[in-house]
Amino acid sequence: MKITVIGTGYVGLVSGTCLAEVGNDVLCLDVDPAKIATLQEGGMPIFEPGLQEMVRRNIAAGRLHFTTDIERAVHFGTVQFIAVGTPPDEDGSADVSYVTAAARNIGRFMTDYKVVVDKSTVPVGTADLVRDTIAGELATRGVAVPYNVVSNPEFLKEGAAVADFMKPDRIVVGCDDEKAALILRAVYAPFQRNHDRLILMDIRSAELTKYAANAMLATRISFMNELANLAEKLGADIEHVRRGIGSDPRIGYDFLYPGAGYGGSCFPKDVQALIRTATDADIDLRILRAVEAANDAQKHVLGRKIGAHFGRNLAGRHFALWGLAFKANTDDMREAPSRVVIGDLLASGASVTAYDPEAMNEARRLFPDAPALSFADSKEAALDGADALVIVTEWKEFRSPDFEEIRSRMKAPLIFDGRNLFDPDFVRKQGFEYRAIGR
Ligand SMILES: NC(=O)c1ccc[n+]([C@@H]2O[C@H](COP(=O)([O-])OP(=O)(O)OC[C@H]3O[C@@H](n4cnc5c(N)ncnc54)[C@H](O)[C@@H]3O)[C@@H](O)[C@H]2O)c1
Repeated sequence: MKITVIGTGYVGLVSGTCLAEVGNDVLCLDVDPAKIATLQEGGMPIFEPGLQEMVRRNIAAGRLHFTTDIERAVHFGTVQFIAVGTPPDEDGSADVSYVTAAARNIGRFMTDYKVVVDKSTVPVGTADLVRDTIAGELATRGVAVPYNVVSNPEFLKEGAAVADFMKPDRIVVGCDDEKAALILRAVYAPFQRNHDRLILMDIRSAELTKYAANAMLATRISFMNELANLAEKLGADIEHVRRGIGSDPRIGYDFLYPGAGYGGSCFPKDVQALIRTATDADIDLRILRAVEAANDAQKHVLGRKIGAHFGRNLAGRHFALWGLAFKANTDDMREAPSRVVIGDLLASGASVTAYDPEAMNEARRLFPDAPALSFADSKEAALDGADALVIVTEWKEFRSPDFEEIRSRMKAPLIFDGRNLFDPDFVRKQGFEYRAIGR
């Protein structure tokens, strides 16, 4: 099948590449010429495990192409996936202007039947907006061209995005037309060969399903973060509590890890957008407002612990920071807790040397004028002369470090662990003071 993917970011590039991998002819469009040039030259604009090899393989096979030419992209695919960003607007609502811009372009240039698929996370009602936008362009041109609009929210996780797309738990399709539903079934058939995982529903329910999923996961995290803060006060260990409740099949182990707050491009913005949608519908989502407030507070938990130990004035103090990405296996720092931790430390007068396996270029871009923030080439080099080590991201390479080397490089054996990576007894036996979350 000929497929166009509009927006070549984390979702668009992964989707387009995986669709090419199963034999489709895919053209990825982006308005960012630098991104497209990088891809055309064999480079990668983002880090995502396994993606680079798959991109190269499919370019070489002639099934995956990249362009900034909008007209060519619209003519190319019968299926047009919209995978552009939907960042938060000032009032917390999702900004759908990139989605409507993509729809306008489709309406401007389409000459034959298209299935237009919203893959971006968009508020309920956006499919109607896309349909109307395309209709408006066709009316301006004075032509009638058939098309259908489908909602197909994406559930991939950064860091495991290729595996998630190739082997999805479920494929949600919101559709009100049989022909379009059949085409979507054909597109997704190669990804669900052992049993049907496609859940077909009306368009508005599909749009809401994506927000409901992220809101539920964010709720679990904020719930555990608040319980962790309580466990600390009560002398309990949240890790025991986590195992104690995760073993209940009604609860399960996933997304019960306490930490320094959730970040990333999705949970914060999607929780905010759902609250906004509800407010507009005269519904107060009290639980979600609390989830968001708890998360905002939790991002300062490491700063608070450090302040409680050293005092509020950190002038002359130096910290090693392990982990900048909002989670492991990505270079993405959107809404990352590390940004708040660094902000708290610098605002109190401290200096920081940070290390991350993938996100340091992004951090340099985000902190262009911070002379008190430097970067090290390795996790060991970041430790030199530090008053404490602060761990913010759960990268695998941080999980079993050489504690003797850590101690020898630092000024004092003190660790603030925002990810509960270590057994507290073990670390203390290595001669460290160890401050984790909820234990
Ligand atoms: N990142 C994730 O893990 C994830 C997971 C599921 C869903 N989503 C949702 O998917 C959408 C995309 O997210 P992302 O992380 O891939 O965003 P991103 O910012 O990485 O990529 C979006 C891309 O769209 C391009 N773009 C903007 N307007 C365009 C236009 N009119 N035509 C062509 N290209 C255009 C941008 O240049 C950018 O490269 C968002 O709605 C997001 O909420 C993201």
